[in-house]
Amino acid sequence: MARKIIIDCDPGQDDAVALLLAFASPGELDLLGITTVAGNVPLGLTQRNARMLCDIAGRQEVRVYAGCDQPLRRQLETAEQIHGATGINGLEVFEPSTPLQSEHAVDFIIHTLLDADDASITLVPIGPLTNIATAMDREPEILSRIERIVLMGGAMREGGNRTPSAEFNILVDPHAADIVFRCGRPITAFGLDLSHQVLSTRDRVARIRALNNPVAAATADMLSFFDRYDTVKYTSKGAPLHDPCPVAWLLRPDLFAGKDCNISIETQSELTMGHTAVDFWHVTDRPINATWMHTVDAPGFYDFLIERLARFGEHA
Ligand code: RIB
Ligand code: CA
Repeated sequence: MARKIIIDCDPGQDDAVALLLAFASPGELDLLGITTVAGNVPLGLTQRNARMLCDIAGRQEVRVYAGCDQPLRRQLETAEQIHGATGINGLEVFEPSTPLQSEHAVDFIIHTLLDADDASITLVPIGPLTNIATAMDREPEILSRIERIVLMGGAMREGGNRTPSAEFNILVDPHAADIVFRCGRPITAFGLDLSHQVLSTRDRVARIRALNNPVAAATADMLSFFDRYDTVKYTSKGAPLHDPCPVAWLLRPDLFAGKDCNISIETQSELTMGHTAVDFWHVTDRPINATWMHTVDAPGFYDFLIERLARFGEHA
């Protein structure tokens, strides 16, 4: 039976690849809806970008919702320097035919979960956690319906990518992240320690482009833009492909390894705001609340991603 999931995202080229991977896996993932949040770019663009991806993948039936346009308490910080002014640079922007649902994303999350059986829906947040935390805060009844939260966020040994201490998704809304990490439901967290192992090198982008189908071409175009900032910043051979990691884990957990530990969020100090304190060596008595993912078979990840992107050409 396909796993019921909701992807909460802020597209963003890497969010886009995560959506495409989910679209390519209908037998394993039942995508109940895509909820969008302000993050990489403002909400008006993240929701439009998510709907563009539905069109590109030929999945105009997927329901897309707009959610929170501001973090719970902090001013919105965006990342146009990485994703471009449109948030999806690398793609020619167009007005998508996939409609935006009129219902607010938080209301969709709440009523979908309230109508569901216990532990039956997996949440896959790959942007700031504002929508998820708002839903939990407004309707705690939904918690029992959450099978697991499989998220992209945080950093431990890698240090931060937005400040020395914090990864972008957590920094943008640390108060939301604090609510989520204290919610008591199982969490599988993919931070920079993991995503910095999956680099979109030129060779890998070339293999994607060589699939010779429109979705793979769009992916190669996005990744060719997405890598220009990180390759300079990290002097790496390609941009880390953050957001497809949680989706890939749902499909191929054998490619990954993690460790159960406590993850706590800094919400007081401006210097370390949004830091994920990962108690990897269990040096405190803080309760275990997450699995911190730390190792991935990167060649295997890209082989799998490419195999799934190839599916978009099979019925062309
Ligand atoms: O730090 C990486 C995360 O921030 C990714 O989810 C990327 O899309 C941005 O949202
Ligand atoms: Ca994202």
